[in-house]
Amino acid sequence: MESQILENLLEVKGLNVYYKDFQALKAVSITFYKDRVHAIMGPSGCGKSTLIRCFNRMHELTPGNRAEGQILLNGENILEMDPILVRRNTGMVFQRPNPFPTMSIYDNVIAGYKLNGIRLSKSESDKIVEESLNKAALWGEVKDKLHRRGTFLSGGQQQRLCIARALALYPAVLLLDEPTSALDPKATSHIEELIVELKKNVSIILVTHNIAQAGRVSDFTAFMYLGELIEYGTTEKLFTVPQDKRTEEYLSGKFG
Ligand SMILES: Nc1ncnc2c1ncn2[C@@H]1O[C@H](COP(=O)(O)OP(=O)(O)O)[C@@H](O)[C@H]1O
Ligand SMILES: [Mg+2]
Repeated sequence: MESQILENLLEVKGLNVYYKDFQALKAVSITFYKDRVHAIMGPSGCGKSTLIRCFNRMHELTPGNRAEGQILLNGENILEMDPILVRRNTGMVFQRPNPFPTMSIYDNVIAGYKLNGIRLSKSESDKIVEESLNKAALWGEVKDKLHRRGTFLSGGQQQRLCIARALALYPAVLLLDEPTSALDPKATSHIEELIVELKKNVSIILVTHNIAQAGRVSDFTAFMYLGELIEYGTTEKLFTVPQDKRTEEYLSGKFG
């Protein structure tokens, strides 16, 4: 049961999102909380990636794409903020681990600073690298090979490196888009344990089409279908007493 008070972090209000003429999200309103894990699940094509790509202003990178409505981060509308500032506050990790192939493990972790033109002293960057790799549960495995390329690591380690890279900028929210779908079961459970550990410091939004994963790691779960948010609530309640028939059908494996 929730014992601590919930603090709103990201409030989405009436979000309509388009790829040219095609409306991919329809009037989505949802609130994410500080220091909690939120799962977004639903069948392929329902709009999960589109939703979280609006949170870091990636959606509008393609000409013709539009997002209308409000996405309030600590009360300020992300859709009206400087995209660079938004991306510093929202770390993103994708399905396939994508460390920068020509960079060392060390340089991968602090890549966000370089891309943002932020200079760090050697001691500052050493500290951020160690701290971020520690948070991503990778430090012990790589501390003696920080100057080797990140691409030498296993898939699961590469994904934790990408999590470290996202955490290095101290984001308010970590966006994970099916982060384990390219990983084996052992690497997957390692990442799942990490997600639960990380929520002490960062709010997490985890897109997954793995129902069991949503059940294992999230405090709140959203179910989306055909661009709409069908149902949202505590994971416990949504899994045990779904209010909408479509949620119930999805949970019982009838579609998706
Ligand atoms: N670049 C794009 N151009 C046009 N339509 C897109 C594009 N990307 C996604 N879509 C459409 O938007 C809808 C939502 O896609 P997406 O957010 O990727 O779903 P999910 O992540 O839940 O699988 C789908 O109907 C998909 O076909
Ligand atoms: Mg997707």
